[in-house]
Amino acid sequence: MSAIEKFIAEIPKAELHLHIEGTFEPELMFEIAIRNNLKLKYSSVDELKAAYNFNNLQEFLDIYYSGADVLIEEQDFYDLTWAYLQKIHSQNVLHTEIFFDPQTHSSRGVHFSKVISGIHRALEDGQTKLGISSKLILSILRHLSEESAIQTLEEALEYKNWITAVGLDSSERGHPPSKFQRIFEKALEEGFLTVAHAGEEGPPEYVWEALNLLHVSRIDHGNRSLEDPELVAELARRHIPLTVCPLSNLKLKVVNDMSKHPLTEMLDKGLLATVNSDDPAYFGGYVNENYLAVAKALNLSKQQITQLAKNSFAASFLEEKEKKSMIEKVEKFSHQ
Ligand code: ADE
Ligand code: ZN
Repeated sequence: MSAIEKFIAEIPKAELHLHIEGTFEPELMFEIAIRNNLKLKYSSVDELKAAYNFNNLQEFLDIYYSGADVLIEEQDFYDLTWAYLQKIHSQNVLHTEIFFDPQTHSSRGVHFSKVISGIHRALEDGQTKLGISSKLILSILRHLSEESAIQTLEEALEYKNWITAVGLDSSERGHPPSKFQRIFEKALEEGFLTVAHAGEEGPPEYVWEALNLLHVSRIDHGNRSLEDPELVAELARRHIPLTVCPLSNLKLKVVNDMSKHPLTEMLDKGLLATVNSDDPAYFGGYVNENYLAVAKALNLSKQQITQLAKNSFAASFLEEKEKKSMIEKVEKFSHQ
């Protein structure tokens, strides 16, 4: 292991952009499909992995939703979440903020209560058995209707204490944040924080809408913000974090080459950028592999890596006191 690899592996960090359905490793997918008597479109793990070649976000989403189709029971959601927590425990992730997509499951007749109970039970075990703290973010699928989003938010109210924020994901182009302005107003009234995927494939205007209409606390991705200097200035002035996902960007052709990734430009422009894995089972790496990919391609220094790890806690939804204590841990590690 190289010195930089070791530094990345050991530095304490948080993950803030992670879709739990995107952690579904092919081996577990086959295991759960078999026990639920369901057939996958692919006959083997290798055949499935060979299909993980995407030209854009939509090509990925089609495969991602079909993989999630085998999740039926509460135990399935537990197993999925527990496997992810064990993985990040080995990567020195101390805190994670996880998206889940209830509509992916309710559209197949899998009730909200099963999905959230399985995930929540694993997150509790993550805290007690692995010492990993977590927050849950309910993400609305933007390619579906406002009515479907309203129904999802209503189902969530019963589990309000388990959910920190409401997010927006899925096919970005043609589905601007403004489509969900009323839902997000309701979510804010109910006491949820808000976040949104914006500027991944969509234009800077979608980032403006996320800020001004959905009142988001963070932007997920946000790459295309860099096309608009006024937007960059606004994001920097308001310390709005960007949850950046380098391997996802490469796999979905948001960037053509990792050496052209805008992460350092974001940091240089004063943006609170963080590094995350998005859908690690599909994009070839968990959080440490994402740090390593940008560290190598952009020749990041230990100081920049330390900054990214500190940013991950600063941008989290932890309480100020907890943030401070986590950031101190990062500093202590980097000085040793
Ligand atoms: N759902 C899962 N991953 C996503 C991504 N990168 N963009 C939008 N929606 C998603
Ligand atoms: Zn995402």
